[in-house]
Amino acid sequence: MDFKEVITQRRAVNFFDTEKDVSESLLREAIELAAKTPSGFNLQPWSLIILKDKEEKMKLQKLAWNQPKISEAPATLILLADRQGWKAGHPFVERNFNEMVNAGAMKPEQHQWFADTCAALYGSSEDKQQAFACKNAGFFAMSLMLAAKSLGLDTHPMDGFDHEGVRKAFRVPENYWIPLLMAVGYFRKGAELSPPKWRKSFDEIVVKF
Ligand SMILES: Cc1cc2nc3c(=O)[nH]c(=O)nc-3n(C[C@H](O)[C@H](O)[C@H](O)COP(=O)(O)O)c2cc1C
Repeated sequence: MDFKEVITQRRAVNFFDTEKDVSESLLREAIELAAKTPSGFNLQPWSLIILKDKEEKMKLQKLAWNQPKISEAPATLILLADRQGWKAGHPFVERNFNEMVNAGAMKPEQHQWFADTCAALYGSSEDKQQAFACKNAGFFAMSLMLAAKSLGLDTHPMDGFDHEGVRKAFRVPENYWIPLLMAVGYFRKGAELSPPKWRKSFDEIVVKF
């Protein structure tokens, strides 16, 4: 599949084949492809909870408008966006700094500069922390949907759910926001896929003030 086909054929698929499992290796491949997603300072503030167990998926479904695709898809993911993923001392922030030092992109003595810059850009207000986490996790989610499509999988993103309910039910720590849920599997053959949805045109997207 070339890129045009991948981006055109990806659809939010409402009906999943309940008989067709998604293999661990294929899901892993999709996630590893999506891990190529860019992020601010390469901080990658995203994580996933993978639900495959029917009971766990039903628990989630009840907190998400009872959308059947959550339990019908063989895998449903809870996307997490780390609002603290810019902060000095955070394991991935420190890992990232060390990787940059090892790659020759930073000097060890720049640690304070790096910490201060990340704090100013991403941490100086709750809004900035939220924006940092969700914009980067959103890019990751999009990559994941396209990676899945390129591997023959279908997906459905959802933000129709009780955020605090999901946090509580799945013991999600406070530092994470939950931008969306994503059903992953195979479109149920014979089910009706809605016609392609309208999109804003070039002229409607481009603005000038
Ligand atoms: C962030 C986000 C949240 C969404 N939440 C839901 C949802 O809770 N339930 C649902 O049925 N569709 C949901 N959708 C799917 C959209 O309605 C769908 O992507 C859009 O209508 C365009 O259709 P297409 O993806 O098939 O091109 C969501 C999509 C996105 C990107």
